[in-house]
Amino acid sequence: MYENIFSSLIDALLLVSRDHRIFLSNPAAWELFRLSRGSLDGLPIADLLLEPAEVERRIESTLASGESYRDLECLVHAGAEGRTFPAGLTISPLQGEGGDCLGAIVMVKDLSLLKELEEGSRQKSNLSAAEGLALRMAHEIRNPLGGIRGSAQLLSQELENPAHREYLDVVIAEVDRINRMVAQMMQLTRPTGPAFEETNIHKVLADIILLEKDNLARHKNRVEQIYDPSLPPIDADADQLKQVFLNLIKNAVEASGKKGRIQIITRVNSGYGIKLLPQATPRQGVVVEIIDSGAGMDEAALKNLFTPFYTTKKKGSGLGLAISLKIVENHGGKIKVTSEKGLGTTVQVLLPLRQR
Ligand SMILES: Nc1ncnc2c1ncn2[C@@H]1O[C@H](COP(=O)(O)OP(=O)(O)O)[C@@H](O)[C@H]1O
Ligand SMILES: [Mg+2]
Repeated sequence: MYENIFSSLIDALLLVSRDHRIFLSNPAAWELFRLSRGSLDGLPIADLLLEPAEVERRIESTLASGESYRDLECLVHAGAEGRTFPAGLTISPLQGEGGDCLGAIVMVKDLSLLKELEEGSRQKSNLSAAEGLALRMAHEIRNPLGGIRGSAQLLSQELENPAHREYLDVVIAEVDRINRMVAQMMQLTRPTGPAFEETNIHKVLADIILLEKDNLARHKNRVEQIYDPSLPPIDADADQLKQVFLNLIKNAVEASGKKGRIQIITRVNSGYGIKLLPQATPRQGVVVEIIDSGAGMDEAALKNLFTPFYTTKKKGSGLGLAISLKIVENHGGKIKVTSEKGLGTTVQVLLPLRQR
């Protein structure tokens, strides 16, 4: 019966003699350490541990005083491939018939999955509770939207009266708007890292200005491009940067009203030193400035600028700047905004030249 229990346990058990050598192990231990019973037999337990000192001290104390220890965290290596994983150890005395201490029972739990989950939840805890809720809702909202859109489309095909069809077009357009917003919201919380490649910032800006051509013309906004011809290519994800500058330029247009002036300035910044590591040398970077002579913002608005869902626009999402900041930070860069109510706004995007 005892033997059955011993070999049926799913946690690894090592029986250690007074000289800290393993003399018995269960199948869960062979599995966990990727070692056969034969190679575990006689092995000093220290050989399985990355930093054995603390565990050895506890075993010694167990042998001397009969004390137990629970959930000692340590790093363990297993198998010939040298896999290392975090483990939780419980050490208890192994008592003989006469009550004397024959050795120690060491139970080993693999904590790698638990640690991974912890890491995951720590990353997520960057999200506020409200954002987490918003993300869950976003998922829930998308499914019924598909159904609504599909039904509206079918119904629209059936209708004879074009006026009635127009109503359904409104339904479809509004559904699409919610869908876009929800997609943006999910992007904010999705942890996709940038795919870095050599990127020409002027090309990125040219693409966006082309994209926004109609919008700019409609507002009669004048765009001045003041570009540094010596601007080197940088390591960046061009698609993600397009999203950043598209939003910044849209914001500038939306703040400007009719006949506004928008300046887009690029330059190299050699003194741009964001220190990621204490010993890091100041990194060279590029600066892209987007200056508008629009409505500007007061102190309170400036404070809320990067808060998700903060918007002062009727059809705004309040996600543009939050997403932009996240993208720029993923590039190791920064966004600085200065603004004066009634005078205009300057947005500076600083991006490092190289990612390493
Ligand atoms: N260039 C700007 N001038 C004035 N206000 C701005 C400017 N850019 C952003 N803002 C303010 O910040 C808010 C948030 O911007 P953003 O995150 O892009 O969301 P959205 O554009 O959908 O409102 C805007 O609603 C606006 O009040
Ligand atoms: Mg915006």
